[in-house]
Amino acid sequence: MQIAFSEFSVPESGTLIVGVLTHSALTPSAQEIDSRTSGLLSKAIEASSRFTGKKNTTLTLNVPVGLLLSRVILVGLGKPGDIDELQMQAMGGRIVAALNKLGESQAAIVIDKLDGCSMCPANMVAESAFGAQLASYRFDKYRTKQKEEDKPTLNTLTFMSPDRGAAQTAAEPRQRVGDGVYLTRNLVSEPSNVKYPATIVEDIQELSEVGIDVEVLNEERMKGLGMGALLGVGQGSRRESFIAIMHWNGAPDKDTPPVAFVGKGVTFDTGGISIKPSGGMEEMKYDMAGAGAVIGLMKALAGRKAQANVVGVVGLVENMPDGNAQRPGDVVNTMSGQTIEVINTDAEGRLVLSDALWYTQKTFAPQFMVDLATLTGAIIVSLGTYQAGLFSNNDELAERLTAAGKASGEEVWRLPLGSRYDKDINSEIADMKNVGKGREAGSITAAALLERFVGDTPWAHLDIAGMAWMKRSDDPIVPKGASGYGVRLLDRLVEDYYES
Ligand code: BES
Ligand code: MN
Ligand code: ZN
Repeated sequence: MQIAFSEFSVPESGTLIVGVLTHSALTPSAQEIDSRTSGLLSKAIEASSRFTGKKNTTLTLNVPVGLLLSRVILVGLGKPGDIDELQMQAMGGRIVAALNKLGESQAAIVIDKLDGCSMCPANMVAESAFGAQLASYRFDKYRTKQKEEDKPTLNTLTFMSPDRGAAQTAAEPRQRVGDGVYLTRNLVSEPSNVKYPATIVEDIQELSEVGIDVEVLNEERMKGLGMGALLGVGQGSRRESFIAIMHWNGAPDKDTPPVAFVGKGVTFDTGGISIKPSGGMEEMKYDMAGAGAVIGLMKALAGRKAQANVVGVVGLVENMPDGNAQRPGDVVNTMSGQTIEVINTDAEGRLVLSDALWYTQKTFAPQFMVDLATLTGAIIVSLGTYQAGLFSNNDELAERLTAAGKASGEEVWRLPLGSRYDKDINSEIADMKNVGKGREAGSITAAALLERFVGDTPWAHLDIAGMAWMKRSDDPIVPKGASGYGVRLLDRLVEDYYES
């Protein structure tokens, strides 16, 4: 789907979308169309007992006489004073879904300047175009027999507003964030025979095209650094493990310490020798969604030329059972010097992150580190699929993430850490073990292990196991399947607090 920008004119074909405010009040462009069509819109609204311009409602009018268009869709905007970014994004998303359902190929939406609305038309365009872009995502590359009627029909969606140039300028950075979300969704959707550590490294290297510097640590290098925990997870796999590091240096002062994002990239999680049950195991292709989010985020930040120094680090491994796989009971040495007793080889994400976090903090001395990981099934039990779990050793960072979550629509909910949970991962024979007390506080004891590898760096952990993949979706801008969770949240965190 193409997104275009223009000033207001009544199009000669396709569908025209116009806004209606609460109590059936027509927006200025709706009034103009109404007067050109001797009251078509106002009569239609009068005739429909249900549509009154409430937000998130629509009324579709077919083949209006006097216009060359095929139809007009009225969208409810609600009260002008209540209109906000997230509402505009959702509206863009709903419009795309409605147009594809109607089989429309071309449409234009008019955005007016509205009295009493705190958003200017350019930003309303930017947000609704962002929502439209996010909603039109498809992953169809492996379908060879898709029926015509199942393919999306919408080719072009034009946003008409008072100042075309201003709208386009406002929309540009949002569209680049959308490109980052698409990259994450693609990486997460791909099956594990296609995207495994080495092929993800190749994709990361392509980001040099947008100005990102990439470094790669192979197994030999990681052995030299003493990353026994990460390497232990990968040792049962035929695929080589890697850490990839992405640098975006957009701050005006090149010496500003970076902010760092670290992702769990388990390209497939069988559980290893502590093997998972086979039912549903195919879902474990998305166990690299934390890494996927970091990669998409780096693309988004570079794409919109964020004024910040950012480093993205992803630990890429495959967790397989094998004659060479690590065993329950093995003790591994981490780069930090601390030892971990591997009670359960399926608690592998924390092993990967222990070395990745330590490396990041030692190598880059970042202002903060945020890691993203599909770390525990327990977080799905706690929070379901609406909010990610947040754990942090720093209240300011936690509050900023919470605020960025509300602003972006990708929400987080903070859970506790503390010495009592930390004690639960003490081991009889090593510095720690990789599981806590059975099923109790499973997400927290996982986070407690990570905390032992962050030193004094302000750090937050996002457990995104419930957010990375949507079996069904009730969010108009997140289609079923890979959500791309984390890109919008962390782009917002950087934009609101760390850009100069
Ligand atoms: N990748 C899983 C967590 C997961 C579960 C992600 C469901 C997405 C959906 C993780 O590696 C794992 O297996 N965790 C175990 C930990 C346990 C062995 C302590 C879990 O949650 O059961
Ligand atoms: Mn696992
Ligand atoms: Zn896992």
